[in-house]
Amino acid sequence: MSETSTAAASPPHATLGHRSPILRVIGIAISAWLLLSVVAAAWFGLTTPQTGTAALVQGLTLAEVLFAVALILLGSIVEGFGWGLSLGTRWPYTRNIVLLMLRGDPEAAHRMLATTVGLIALALAVLNPVQSSFVGLVLVLVTALFGMGTLYVLAGRAPAIVHGTHGLLAYLVFLDYLVALRLPGVSFPIYLEATGALHAVLLALFLGGMVTGQRGFGKPIEAFVRPRRPAQWIFVLHGLAALLVIGTLGWMEPLYPVAFTLALLQAGVGFFVFHAVNLKPRHPGALVVLHQSMVLLITSAIVLQWHW
Ligand code: HEM
Repeated sequence: MSETSTAAASPPHATLGHRSPILRVIGIAISAWLLLSVVAAAWFGLTTPQTGTAALVQGLTLAEVLFAVALILLGSIVEGFGWGLSLGTRWPYTRNIVLLMLRGDPEAAHRMLATTVGLIALALAVLNPVQSSFVGLVLVLVTALFGMGTLYVLAGRAPAIVHGTHGLLAYLVFLDYLVALRLPGVSFPIYLEATGALHAVLLALFLGGMVTGQRGFGKPIEAFVRPRRPAQWIFVLHGLAALLVIGTLGWMEPLYPVAFTLALLQAGVGFFVFHAVNLKPRHPGALVVLHQSMVLLITSAIVLQWHW
C-alpha cells in the first residue's frame, strides 16, 4: 500500500511515510531486537561478577548500547521510508504519540525510544557518576536537540549540516557507551582521539547525513557527470570520505580485518543507495537501513577489534 498522502487533521508539513511488507518485517525485527536487548541486559547484570549497583550499571550500559543501535536503525527507517515529517515539525511529542507508535509510525517509535535512551543515560549518570556517564548524558541531550533540527532540515528551513551533526552525535552516543562497556575506566574523548581508524568513518557518516539533508525531503540527488547542485557536491565529498575510510582501514588491515571488509562492501551498498534515492527520492527504502546497519557494524568491528 503506497501512502504518501497528507492527513487532513495534520499540522502543516506533516506527511505520512510509505508502508510496505518489508517495512513491517524490519519493524518486527527491531521489536525483537529490543526484546532481546532487555533479556541480554538482565542476563548480563545478573551474571556479572559484580553485585548491587555495579551489576545494575553493567546491565544498564549494555541495554544503552543495544538500544542506541535500534535507535539509529529506526532513524534510517524514518529516512528510508519517508516518515521524517509524519508528526510535522512538532517536537518532542504529540498527544497521541504512543498510539501512533503502536500503529507502526517509525517516527513516533524513534522519539519514544530516544526518550528511553535519555532516561537510561540519566539513570547511569546518577548510579555511576563517572566521565563516560556524563559525556553520554550530554551527548544524548544534544543529539535530541539536533533531532528536532532535522525536522526543520526536512521542511527546508534549516541547513543540511544540522542533519549531518545529528547523525554524528548519534554515533558518538553509541560509541561512548560501547567504549564504557569494552574498556571501563578509559576516557571516551581520549579513546576517540587515539583511535585513528574511527576518524574517517565519523567524517564519512557526517557527510552521509549531510547528503540526506541537502537533497531535501523527497528530492533526488540526480545522476551527474560533473557535480553542479550542492547535494551533488556533498555526495562527491561523501564518496571521497568513503575512499578515505577504505584507505585507512586497508592501511590498518591487520588490526581491523573485519572492519576493512565491511567498508569495501559498504561502498557497493552506497552505489545502490544512490540509485534508490534517485529512483524513489521520497522513500528509497530498505537499502538506506542496510547502509546504516553497515556503519554500525564497521564502528563495532573497530571498537571491538573483530577478527575472522
Ligand atoms: C564506509 C563508507 C560510508 C559510510 C560510513 C557511509 C555512511 C552514510 C550515512 C551515515 C548516511 C546517512 C544516512 C541517513 O541519513 O539515514 C549516508 C548516506 C548516503 N550514502 Fe553513504 N556511507 C559510506 C559510503 C558510501 C558510498 C561509497 C556511497 C556511494 C557510492 C554512498 C552513498 C550514499 C548516499 C547516496 C547517501 C544519501 C542517502 C539519502 O539521501 O537518502 N555512501 N552514508
